[in-house]
Amino acid sequence: MKTKLKLIALSGFIGLASFLALPADDFAGDARSATAAAYPVEIFTANCAKCHGTDGRAKTAKGKRLHATDFTTDWNTDETRGIHIITNGKDDMPSFKKTLSPDEIRSVFHYVVSLKQ
Ligand code: HEC
Repeated sequence: MKTKLKLIALSGFIGLASFLALPADDFAGDARSATAAAYPVEIFTANCAKCHGTDGRAKTAKGKRLHATDFTTDWNTDETRGIHIITNGKDDMPSFKKTLSPDEIRSVFHYVVSLKQ
């Protein structure tokens, strides 16, 4: 009986936790992200800026050579596609599966989307 009650309490908690986690997506584009580990600007600067540029314009030597996407242009901001590319890589775009958590990938994806003008 006690175990059953605990289970109910636990599933209630998980439900509440995922409910509370939801609004984080709305803020994933900036540093207010609810996930402590995911500060999108820092993730971007550390992992992406050498190709995509700190301003997202891909005007770095490497970015120009590899034709990295300029995030201020009209690029394809489809979430599933973008997260797939960051996770698995595409041509000269490296995979970040081993470097970043799924949360960090989603967070940095929303950051690069926010650079689109
Ligand atoms: C070694 C250079 C390099 C690094 C580092 C890099 N990228 Fe890229 N990225 C590229 C290149 C090149 C492409 C274009 C790939 C293609 O379309 O052939 C690209 C494409 C992309 C795309 C797809 C854009 C589109 O046109 O749809 C996204 C999103 C992206 N990068 C995000 C990131 C993020 C986020 C990071 C850091 C976590 C990152 N990249 C790090 C080189 C890089």
